[in-house]
Amino acid sequence: MLLSPWHPITMAFVCGLISVASSGVMDSETDPDPAAQPSQRKDENISNYTVIKHSISIPGLTKKVIQKEIILDSPAHLKLECELLLDSEELQINDVAWTFENTTISKNKYVNNTTENKWHTSYEFAVSALNMIGTYTCIFNSTTEVKAEFHIKVPTVKSEKKPLVSYIADSIVMKCDSSIYKPKKWIWYQTNGSDQVQLNLSLIPIKYEDSSKKVNESKLHISNLSEKDSGIYICKAVFAFGEHEGQVQLSVLSYTVPLKVFLAIAAEVVVLVSLILLYEMKTKKKQSEEDIKQDADESTNLKSEDSKSLETSTTRQRKV
Ligand SMILES: *[C@@H]1O[C@H](CO)[C@@H](O)[C@H](O)[C@H]1NC(C)=O
Ligand SMILES: *[C@@H]1O[C@H](CO)[C@@H](O)[C@H](O)[C@H]1NC(C)=O
Ligand SMILES: *[C@@H]1O[C@H](CO)[C@@H](O)[C@H](O)[C@H]1NC(C)=O
Ligand SMILES: *[C@@H]1O[C@H](CO)[C@@H](O)[C@H](O)[C@H]1NC(C)=O
Ligand SMILES: *[C@@H]1O[C@H](CO)[C@@H](O)[C@H](O)[C@H]1NC(C)=O
Ligand SMILES: *[C@@H]1O[C@H](CO)[C@@H](O)[C@H](O)[C@H]1NC(C)=O
Ligand SMILES: *[C@@H]1O[C@H](CO)[C@@H](O)[C@H](O)[C@H]1NC(C)=O
Ligand SMILES: *[C@@H]1O[C@H](CO)[C@@H](O)[C@H](O)[C@H]1NC(C)=O
Ligand SMILES: *[C@@H]1O[C@H](CO)[C@@H](O)[C@H](O)[C@H]1NC(C)=O
Ligand SMILES: *[C@@H]1O[C@H](CO)[C@@H](O)[C@H](O)[C@H]1NC(C)=O
Repeated sequence: MLLSPWHPITMAFVCGLISVASSGVMDSETDPDPAAQPSQRKDENISNYTVIKHSISIPGLTKKVIQKEIILDSPAHLKLECELLLDSEELQINDVAWTFENTTISKNKYVNNTTENKWHTSYEFAVSALNMIGTYTCIFNSTTEVKAEFHIKVPTVKSEKKPLVSYIADSIVMKCDSSIYKPKKWIWYQTNGSDQVQLNLSLIPIKYEDSSKKVNESKLHISNLSEKDSGIYICKAVFAFGEHEGQVQLSVLSYTVPLKVFLAIAAEVVVLVSLILLYEMKTKKKQSEEDIKQDADESTNLKSEDSKSLETSTTRQRKV
């Protein structure tokens, strides 16, 4: 009765071990990446499209540039907002500007809220092409320049860091994911040094298969491995604006490789054991008072020594 609550846990543990062993790959199914979380955002509908709002609040005149990362996997309407809080009303703002990659794109579109000592500016636009991906900056020009930056980026791909090892005729699964972001498609390449070959999964469906059901991940399943399958695999996620890729390294070993390793270890053990025996023989030779001239006598001498020690031990036991 006392043990019963442990049973499911033990079962789960055993099952986990079995599944890891049978797949041959450490599958990191649940692996949340805190860094990949999207930045805080507010959605607000304007006519029939959704505007994604991102805001930065700047606490007074500061040289520190507050930055925010915005990751986009598809076209979007963005509204970027900056709010500058001022301590005193006397502070003079000469102008307010927005830049994209250091080029001014908007000037003096702001709200001066005198009741709250707040300066507010926003920039709204649609991101529809790769050349709109980059850094957007709001600049409040006062006695000093106060800035905040929005970094718009394409999602990144995460892949297995550890090289995978498998054997001829086995199968293996390589996994890449793009966190919560959805690429339009995944492309796999195999590379062996200089050459990079795109894998056509539909051409050889018996050998290659993408076993993932989710858009945000790709699992390349390769069956009937041969030594030719060794190399670096590249998983490329193609997003609306650009692409990003991950790498997985695979080594396919023949079964004779572990056998060779085993034989090497066995040989080492044999050498070590014979060295120990040889050393023991020599020390015993020194201890014995008899001067042995012939090598052939060594074994008989050992035997007599053994029987002597046996005798002494038995006599001791009898005494007790
Ligand atoms: C915006 O509009 C879409 C449909 O066009 C709707 O699904 C969504 O809920 C709306 N969002 C908000 C915040 O109203
Ligand atoms: C609203 O949707 C219609 C049909 O999908 C489209 O033709 C139109 O351009 C959209 N309007 C805006 C402002 O995006
Ligand atoms: C923008 O300006 C900063 C410094 O003023 C510089 O480091 C950066 O490379 C510039 N970016 C571009 C795209 O010119
Ligand atoms: C804010 O606007 C009011 C009028 O709308 C103006 O009197 C005041 O000088 C402005 N404040 C600053 C700091 O420019
Ligand atoms: C200033 O801020 C207050 C509080 O957020 C708001 O009620 C008021 O409408 C704002 N004034 C302007 C001119 O935006
Ligand atoms: C900031 O204001 C000063 C004084 O009006 C001006 O000389 C300078 O060019 C402005 N800087 C920017 C980036 O607009
Ligand atoms: C993939 O997306 C689903 C929801 O669409 C999410 O639950 C899952 O965590 C995502 N995968 C990764 C690796 O983030
Ligand atoms: C890489 O693979 C290609 C095609 O399979 C082959 O022709 C080439 O010799 C290989 N290169 C190396 C360095 O193994
Ligand atoms: C993959 O092979 C199929 C069948 O031969 C072919 O229709 C398709 O165009 C190929 N795709 C690529 C990307 O080569
Ligand atoms: C596995 O590949 C070898 C050649 O590398 C081939 O001779 C064999 O028939 C394949 N086995 C299966 C089950 O496809």
